[in-house]
Amino acid sequence: MGVHIEDLSFSYKGTDRLILEHLNIDVQDGEFVCLLGQSGCGKSTLLRLIAGLESPTSGELLFDGEPIHGASLERGIVFQDYGLFPWMSAGENILLGLTQKFPDVDKADLKKRVYELLEAVGLDAKIYRKLPKELSGGMKQRCAIARAFGIDSPMLLMDEPFGALDAVTRARLQDLVLSLWGKEEEKKTIFFVTHDVDEALLLSTHIYMLGQSPSHVILDERIPEEHRVTRNTQFDDKWILDLRNKLVMEMNRDIACRVE
Ligand SMILES: Nc1ncnc2c1ncn2[C@@H]1O[C@H](COP(=O)(O)OP(=O)(O)O)[C@@H](O)[C@H]1O
Ligand SMILES: [Mg+2]
Repeated sequence: MGVHIEDLSFSYKGTDRLILEHLNIDVQDGEFVCLLGQSGCGKSTLLRLIAGLESPTSGELLFDGEPIHGASLERGIVFQDYGLFPWMSAGENILLGLTQKFPDVDKADLKKRVYELLEAVGLDAKIYRKLPKELSGGMKQRCAIARAFGIDSPMLLMDEPFGALDAVTRARLQDLVLSLWGKEEEKKTIFFVTHDVDEALLLSTHIYMLGQSPSHVILDERIPEEHRVTRNTQFDDKWILDLRNKLVMEMNRDIACRVE
């Protein structure tokens, strides 16, 4: 579902420092959006606003044409720290999400669905009984992805979900999220926060770069279907390489401004 943000400004309650100012975003249904920007520029804050965990100080924030009031199962969230309850097994964590979303469905059917989801994210059935602390970071994040996709909300908000993972695990999970997103007929709208330009180019159909203090959109680039790249063709497409240079330069310019 689409998100429309117009002239949004935001300060955390009890402070007068503007974190976001005059922010404009227009995202269509089914887009894979990456939010790029330096650490501290307000990416997580923007995601919290879209999640409904914070409200705009001024301006408009619409989800599917309606103002956002509070958190909702319409918008699933995946955090960098996985967000799994440590006292529940991996399977129970996924099951909890399903039970909240589908309270009328038989528990046994939901449990079956958990096993299907584990398989879909490449985890063995025996992971069901493991506690989060017994799993690697990559496995925990696979569980969090299974939970988020299992709830089947039309929108998914992912805040640097692979930031803490090694390069190989990260590449595998990028492919996993892309394939889960691509497989569905009704594509989810995904907001994915990263500060990695290559990750953004590989995943997204639409890139927003946020500048610093207060943060606003400094670049808004849609990636046309014919320039969507894969891991293997990432450095073959001239248009993508030009965009990559532009993004890297903007990102560095933003750092340079702050350092001076
Ligand atoms: N709960 C909060 N109260 C006050 N300021 C906050 C709060 N959370 C984040 N901030 C400030 O908002 C700014 C943007 O933070 P954040 O959205 O986390 O940036 P990013 O995700 O891009 O690293 C930072 O300067 C941070 O210190
Ligand atoms: Mg953040």
